[in-house]
Amino acid sequence: MHSSTPNSPPIFLLGFMGSGKSTLGQALAEELGYDFADTDTLIAERCAKSVAAIFEEEGEERFRRYEQEILHALFGRERLVVACGGGLPCFYDNMERMNACGITVYLQALPEQLVQRIEGHKSTHRPLLQGKTGPALRQYIEESLFRREQYYNQASIIIDTAVNPLAHLMEQLSQR
Ligand code: S3P
Repeated sequence: MHSSTPNSPPIFLLGFMGSGKSTLGQALAEELGYDFADTDTLIAERCAKSVAAIFEEEGEERFRRYEQEILHALFGRERLVVACGGGLPCFYDNMERMNACGITVYLQALPEQLVQRIEGHKSTHRPLLQGKTGPALRQYIEESLFRREQYYNQASIIIDTAVNPLAHLMEQLSQR
Protein backbone atom coordinates (compact mmCIF):
# COMPACT_ATOMS: atom_id res chain seq x y z
CA MET A 1 0.00 0.00 0.00
CA HIS A 2 1.08 3.57 -0.63
CA SER A 3 2.77 5.47 2.21
CA SER A 4 0.05 8.15 2.23
CA THR A 5 -2.66 5.51 2.79
CA PRO A 6 -4.85 6.43 5.79
CA ASN A 7 -4.98 4.30 8.96
CA SER A 8 -8.32 2.71 8.16
CA PRO A 9 -8.33 2.69 4.35
CA PRO A 10 -11.45 1.72 2.42
CA ILE A 11 -12.04 -1.98 1.83
CA PHE A 12 -13.06 -2.75 -1.76
CA LEU A 13 -15.00 -5.96 -2.34
CA LEU A 14 -14.59 -7.35 -5.85
CA GLY A 15 -16.00 -10.32 -7.67
CA PHE A 16 -18.38 -11.54 -10.29
CA MET A 17 -22.10 -10.80 -10.22
CA GLY A 18 -23.66 -13.11 -7.64
CA SER A 19 -20.50 -13.53 -5.56
CA GLY A 20 -22.22 -11.87 -2.57
CA LYS A 21 -20.38 -8.52 -2.43
CA SER A 22 -23.37 -6.53 -1.14
CA THR A 23 -24.44 -9.09 1.46
CA LEU A 24 -20.94 -9.70 2.75
CA GLY A 25 -20.10 -6.02 2.50
CA GLN A 26 -22.99 -4.98 4.72
CA ALA A 27 -22.16 -7.67 7.27
CA LEU A 28 -18.48 -6.69 7.24
CA ALA A 29 -19.28 -3.00 7.65
CA GLU A 30 -21.49 -3.80 10.62
CA GLU A 31 -18.82 -6.01 12.18
CA LEU A 32 -16.13 -3.34 11.80
CA GLY A 33 -18.36 -0.34 12.56
CA TYR A 34 -17.62 1.06 9.08
CA ASP A 35 -19.92 2.75 6.58
CA PHE A 36 -21.08 0.76 3.57
CA ALA A 37 -21.34 1.89 -0.05
CA ASP A 38 -22.33 0.08 -3.24
CA THR A 39 -21.06 1.57 -6.51
CA ASP A 40 -24.17 0.53 -8.48
CA THR A 41 -26.40 2.31 -5.95
CA LEU A 42 -24.23 5.44 -5.98
CA ILE A 43 -24.30 5.57 -9.79
CA ALA A 44 -28.07 5.04 -9.92
CA GLU A 45 -28.55 7.82 -7.34
CA ARG A 46 -26.24 10.17 -9.19
CA CYS A 47 -27.91 9.57 -12.55
CA ALA A 48 -31.41 9.29 -11.05
CA LYS A 49 -32.04 6.12 -13.05
CA SER A 50 -31.37 2.42 -12.75
CA VAL A 51 -28.17 0.73 -13.91
CA ALA A 52 -30.27 -1.10 -16.52
CA ALA A 53 -31.63 2.22 -17.84
CA ILE A 54 -28.11 3.68 -18.02
CA PHE A 55 -26.90 0.69 -20.07
CA GLU A 56 -29.91 0.95 -22.34
CA GLU A 57 -29.99 4.71 -22.84
CA GLU A 58 -26.31 5.70 -22.59
CA GLY A 59 -24.43 2.46 -23.25
CA GLU A 60 -21.90 0.41 -21.31
CA GLU A 61 -18.96 2.68 -22.06
CA ARG A 62 -20.63 5.64 -20.37
CA PHE A 63 -21.58 3.43 -17.42
CA ARG A 64 -17.91 2.44 -17.01
CA ARG A 65 -16.98 6.14 -16.87
CA TYR A 66 -19.56 6.73 -14.16
CA GLU A 67 -18.09 3.80 -12.23
CA GLN A 68 -14.63 5.29 -12.47
CA GLU A 69 -15.82 8.73 -11.32
CA ILE A 70 -17.74 7.28 -8.38
CA LEU A 71 -14.71 5.22 -7.41
CA HIS A 72 -12.37 8.20 -7.47
CA ALA A 73 -14.75 10.09 -5.19
CA LEU A 74 -14.36 7.28 -2.61
CA PHE A 75 -10.56 7.33 -2.50
CA GLY A 76 -9.33 8.96 0.69
CA ARG A 77 -12.41 7.91 2.63
CA GLU A 78 -11.76 6.02 5.85
CA ARG A 79 -13.75 3.32 7.63
CA LEU A 80 -15.70 2.40 4.54
CA VAL A 81 -16.59 -0.93 2.91
CA VAL A 82 -17.34 -0.67 -0.81
CA ALA A 83 -19.18 -3.32 -2.84
CA CYS A 84 -17.90 -2.72 -6.38
CA GLY A 85 -19.88 -3.59 -9.51
CA GLY A 86 -18.59 -6.85 -11.00
CA GLY A 87 -16.94 -5.21 -14.01
CA LEU A 88 -15.39 -2.24 -12.20
CA PRO A 89 -11.91 -3.74 -11.51
CA CYS A 90 -11.54 -4.68 -15.19
CA PHE A 91 -11.62 -1.16 -16.68
CA TYR A 92 -9.06 1.66 -16.89
CA ASP A 93 -6.54 1.58 -14.04
CA ASN A 94 -9.26 0.97 -11.44
CA MET A 95 -7.59 -2.12 -9.99
CA GLU A 96 -4.23 -0.45 -9.63
CA ARG A 97 -5.79 2.63 -8.01
CA MET A 98 -7.85 0.58 -5.55
CA ASN A 99 -4.73 -1.33 -4.54
CA ALA A 100 -2.91 1.95 -3.98
CA CYS A 101 -5.71 3.57 -1.96
CA GLY A 102 -7.25 0.72 -0.01
CA ILE A 103 -7.55 -2.98 0.73
CA THR A 104 -8.92 -5.06 -2.14
CA VAL A 105 -10.74 -8.33 -1.49
CA TYR A 106 -11.73 -10.78 -4.23
CA LEU A 107 -14.75 -12.91 -3.37
CA GLN A 108 -13.99 -16.02 -5.35
CA ALA A 109 -16.76 -18.38 -6.40
CA LEU A 110 -17.00 -21.22 -8.90
CA PRO A 111 -19.13 -20.74 -12.03
CA GLU A 112 -21.68 -23.30 -10.80
CA GLN A 113 -22.07 -21.41 -7.51
CA LEU A 114 -22.55 -18.14 -9.39
CA VAL A 115 -25.16 -19.70 -11.70
CA GLN A 116 -27.06 -20.99 -8.68
CA ARG A 117 -27.01 -17.65 -6.87
CA ILE A 118 -27.87 -15.62 -9.96
CA GLU A 119 -30.75 -17.92 -10.94
CA GLY A 120 -32.02 -17.83 -7.33
CA HIS A 121 -32.13 -14.03 -7.19
CA LYS A 122 -33.40 -12.70 -10.48
CA SER A 123 -32.35 -9.10 -10.58
CA THR A 124 -33.21 -6.33 -12.98
CA HIS A 125 -30.04 -4.34 -12.25
CA ARG A 126 -27.90 -6.76 -14.25
CA PRO A 127 -28.37 -5.84 -17.90
CA LEU A 128 -25.46 -8.05 -18.98
CA LEU A 129 -27.40 -11.13 -17.85
CA GLN A 130 -30.76 -10.22 -19.36
CA GLY A 131 -32.32 -13.13 -21.20
CA LYS A 132 -29.59 -15.60 -20.23
CA THR A 133 -30.59 -18.77 -18.42
CA GLY A 134 -29.45 -22.38 -18.12
CA PRO A 135 -26.48 -23.42 -20.29
CA ALA A 136 -26.23 -19.98 -21.98
CA LEU A 137 -25.89 -18.29 -18.58
CA ARG A 138 -23.33 -20.85 -17.46
CA GLN A 139 -21.27 -20.35 -20.63
CA TYR A 140 -21.39 -16.55 -20.32
CA ILE A 141 -20.22 -16.74 -16.70
CA GLU A 142 -17.38 -19.15 -17.48
CA GLU A 143 -16.10 -17.01 -20.36
CA SER A 144 -16.34 -13.66 -18.60
CA LEU A 145 -14.92 -15.01 -15.35
CA PHE A 146 -11.95 -16.38 -17.27
CA ARG A 147 -11.32 -12.91 -18.77
CA ARG A 148 -11.91 -11.05 -15.52
CA GLU A 149 -9.89 -13.21 -13.15
CA GLN A 150 -6.64 -11.62 -14.31
CA TYR A 151 -7.91 -8.42 -12.66
CA TYR A 152 -9.68 -9.97 -9.67
CA ASN A 153 -6.55 -11.99 -8.85
CA GLN A 154 -4.60 -8.78 -8.28
CA ALA A 155 -6.57 -8.28 -5.04
CA SER A 156 -4.60 -8.20 -1.77
CA ILE A 157 -6.93 -10.74 -0.17
CA ILE A 158 -8.72 -13.62 -1.87
CA ILE A 159 -11.65 -15.22 -0.04
CA ASP A 160 -13.46 -18.41 -1.01
CA THR A 161 -17.16 -17.58 -0.71
CA ALA A 162 -18.27 -21.20 -0.27
CA VAL A 163 -17.74 -21.49 3.49
CA ASN A 164 -18.18 -18.71 6.07
CA PRO A 165 -16.61 -15.87 4.08
CA LEU A 166 -17.19 -13.25 6.80
CA ALA A 167 -15.20 -15.16 9.44
CA HIS A 168 -12.38 -15.83 6.95
CA LEU A 169 -12.25 -12.23 5.86
CA MET A 170 -12.21 -10.93 9.45
CA GLU A 171 -9.34 -13.29 10.17
CA GLN A 172 -7.36 -12.10 7.13
CA LEU A 173 -7.96 -8.44 7.99
CA SER A 174 -6.87 -8.95 11.59
CA GLN A 175 -3.52 -10.30 10.37
CA ARG A 176 -2.69 -7.11 8.49
C1 S3P B 1 -21.81 -5.62 -13.88
C2 S3P B 1 -22.18 -5.94 -12.60
C3 S3P B 1 -23.29 -5.27 -11.89
C4 S3P B 1 -23.50 -3.86 -12.46
C5 S3P B 1 -23.66 -3.90 -13.95
C6 S3P B 1 -22.46 -4.52 -14.66
C7 S3P B 1 -20.69 -6.36 -14.52
O1 S3P B 1 -23.01 -5.18 -10.50
O2 S3P B 1 -22.44 -3.03 -12.11
O3 S3P B 1 -24.83 -4.63 -14.23
O4 S3P B 1 -20.14 -5.88 -15.53
O5 S3P B 1 -20.32 -7.44 -13.98
P1 S3P B 1 -23.04 -6.45 -9.48
O6 S3P B 1 -21.73 -7.16 -9.61
O7 S3P B 1 -23.19 -5.80 -8.14
O8 S3P B 1 -24.20 -7.30 -9.85
